[in-house]
Amino acid sequence: MADSAFSSSDIDAEFYKPAEAFFRTHHGTALTYDDVTLATLHSEVLPRDTQLDTRLAEGLELHLPLISADMDTVTESRMAIAMALNGGLGLIHYNMSERDQLREVTRVKNHVHGLIQEPIKVAPGQLIGEILEMIETRRFAFSTFPVVDEQNRLLGLLPGHVVKPRYARRKVAEALQARGEVKTLTVRELGNNPIAAADRFFTNNPGIHKLLVVDEQDRLHGLFTLSDIERISHERAAQVKPARDAHFRLICGAAISTTRKGDGTLDRERILNHLQALVERGLDVVAVSTAHGHTSGVGETVRLIRDAFPKLPIIAGNVTSAAGVEFLAQCGANTVKVGQGPGSICTTRVVAGVGIPQLTALYVASRAAAKSGVTILADGGITKSGDVVKALTLAHAVICGGLFAGCPEAPGQILEINGKVYKQYRGMGSLAAMKAGSAARYGHSTDQTRKVAAEGVEALKEVAGPLDQVITQLVGGLQSGMGYLGAPDLTKLRAKARYIRVSHAGQREASPHDVVEVKTAN
Ligand code: XMP
Repeated sequence: MADSAFSSSDIDAEFYKPAEAFFRTHHGTALTYDDVTLATLHSEVLPRDTQLDTRLAEGLELHLPLISADMDTVTESRMAIAMALNGGLGLIHYNMSERDQLREVTRVKNHVHGLIQEPIKVAPGQLIGEILEMIETRRFAFSTFPVVDEQNRLLGLLPGHVVKPRYARRKVAEALQARGEVKTLTVRELGNNPIAAADRFFTNNPGIHKLLVVDEQDRLHGLFTLSDIERISHERAAQVKPARDAHFRLICGAAISTTRKGDGTLDRERILNHLQALVERGLDVVAVSTAHGHTSGVGETVRLIRDAFPKLPIIAGNVTSAAGVEFLAQCGANTVKVGQGPGSICTTRVVAGVGIPQLTALYVASRAAAKSGVTILADGGITKSGDVVKALTLAHAVICGGLFAGCPEAPGQILEINGKVYKQYRGMGSLAAMKAGSAARYGHSTDQTRKVAAEGVEALKEVAGPLDQVITQLVGGLQSGMGYLGAPDLTKLRAKARYIRVSHAGQREASPHDVVEVKTAN
């Protein structure tokens, strides 16, 4: 092209291609996150003003497009609560008894932010000396306690100023502030915005630092402290919007397996009974999680659930083909998990020789999803915030395992090796996890005498900071990426993204190089 005919937008268009043109040009090569980079675009969008809301299905909306993986070293109630408080979603894993899974979901659904549901209580017959001993041995940093009878009914409050060695021989009953003088709120008075109600209470009652919450029978239901409420109100000003259901409860998802009877047929009754119990506890979304979702077993399970629970959002997977997405959509799934082998603990590609690098898989799946009216989740292989941005140019949310597994909110043992602390993180297809129950996910029998080929490893993650910190880093990167692309929201990010392949030298150039790093970015 002669220089005079040269147009800036033509040359950009020649090099930086939208998804359709880019992936079709590279149709013979499977690409993943580090193989591409995104081109910048003119922007009037400040990163901090970008909106991260995403709608995965009718009745399933997140304020943050991040989901914690249904893995037994990633998501139980503590992680699911922390995810929902940050606007995302946690999927409770199924490597536990059905009863335990019900309990975990109940914990998330009953969680009231800031409410200490099982505060330390004392009995009227105890001596102040015993309370002092308890504070000492359990290293409590507080000395005010609710006093309750055997039925957990509130008798009064033991104020910190009487919990002194001078009164050691007195009984709690002699020193307590009587019930009539203790100001409380009932669960009903908390309404659907407990934090606001507690905040008002503290403003209207100067000098009171603990708010006791009782039920209609005056049984102690929980406790708010002024310092917690002040911290939470402060965080709210920082724009974090928890993901809640229509009753103002945190949202929660759970994974189930395609449970089979001894004769190999799907145990329809057991699946439906368990799901019914989960739904009664307020479950917002069920995930039918397997390594190979384009199978008659997964299809049959999704159909079964769709027929029995017409409105329940269903996540199903995993697939990496357009036909797989279409199949699960036709069976009734709303959201399809995409990813076979990209995970940090996965060995599916090594063991089975199967799986597709994640970005190509997402592109292929996204085309079928648009046609079938479902959304897709980028599951596995996310190692940094830049990957989240790239994944969200094609998917509606991302699922992370390894990135969250080192957080204190994740279950799993902490080990110390040579002075460094690590947390256990294992693939659900590792031998240990399959023994603990997840074999069905990988199409293996739960018969432990049979030899199976593991498709995941048992690993360690360096202990990370609290989930809030990890999420803050990811969100910062995501918003920054959206700012570079001039995308005010995730729909625009998907529409505007333009890609180009990077060479090995380009990949090297993308990370810090030719310097002695003294402090890493995070
Ligand atoms: P990351 O990369 O976030 O990946 O640690 C988490 C995702 O990996 C999948 N997963 C497995 N895949 N073998 C596999 O091939 C396994 O043992 C295994 N365990 C989990 C799963 O999709 C998860 O969300």
